[in-house]
Amino acid sequence: MTEEMYLHYHGLIVPKETHSYESLEFAQGFKFEDDDVLAVTYPKSGTIWMQEILPLVLNGGDLTPIHTIPNWERVPWLEEKQLARVVDKLASPRALVSHFPYNLMPPSFCTSKAKVIYVMRNPKDIMVSSYYFHQMAGFLEDPGTYDEFMDKFLEGKVMFGKWTDHMKSWRNSELGDRIMYITYEEMAQDLPAALRRISDFLGCNLTEEVIQKVAEHCSFKSMQNNNMSNFSLIPKVYLDHDKSPFLRKGIAGDWKNHFSSEQLTRFTSVISKELEGESFSLPWSL
Ligand code: A3P
Repeated sequence: MTEEMYLHYHGLIVPKETHSYESLEFAQGFKFEDDDVLAVTYPKSGTIWMQEILPLVLNGGDLTPIHTIPNWERVPWLEEKQLARVVDKLASPRALVSHFPYNLMPPSFCTSKAKVIYVMRNPKDIMVSSYYFHQMAGFLEDPGTYDEFMDKFLEGKVMFGKWTDHMKSWRNSELGDRIMYITYEEMAQDLPAALRRISDFLGCNLTEEVIQKVAEHCSFKSMQNNNMSNFSLIPKVYLDHDKSPFLRKGIAGDWKNHFSSEQLTRFTSVISKELEGESFSLPWSL
């Protein structure tokens, strides 16, 4: 772990380029409104996909936000530096994203009625996506070999710590009807059906015509072609798409092209052990 690149905050490792002690404290003091909507993800689970989906669903399919505001400003990260700069510009109902585990959520979140969509992704695909992201993001340490990166991922020596801890914190959060769980795989398999679930959860009552329109504009291809969503506005020194595009493959199951059978056994045994005794079950087999 390269110390100059990361901050440690209540046991969590976060990149300094995008986070500061002040931004993390700003998040702690953030005042949630009852109609706020928060999408929570462990990194590489579909965060920017939700930054596309939420404004469209919340605004009846109006394309203006996704065509005029960069994703990191239209649906900002709760814990990142830019929130303080854009918070006053956010239209109501506000949409945010966060990689925080549940235990780091600010007090006002717990007392508000703000709704949460927790997006889960098969951790094997998360690891693959993260490996390539570490190659293209100039503000993250070099991932080393695939095998070395797997060790770091399993030990939680990566930004936002162990996937299992993140998952456990939100699966056990007992937020009742304030939280909805959805998987990346479900969205990849049938986006209109996933959008119907999201729209119902948020009480948006979108027509079938709008659902189809939103699905079209949130497709992998549309997002690849949307400069407000594909991070092409970020200088190459921070995100180098020649090394690996941010919108890389957009599929479920790419791990099959990367894991050896030994790595699969190692990965599965560590993750299974850490989830032993949990009352929730995983939506995919490991
Ligand atoms: P891959 O690297 O496997 O392609 P995050 O936004 O949390 O960092 O997650 C990034 C991952 O979500 C990347 O996965 C990216 O391609 C994928 N993604 C983003 N938008 C998507 C979409 N519309 N359809 C499918 N996958 C998408």
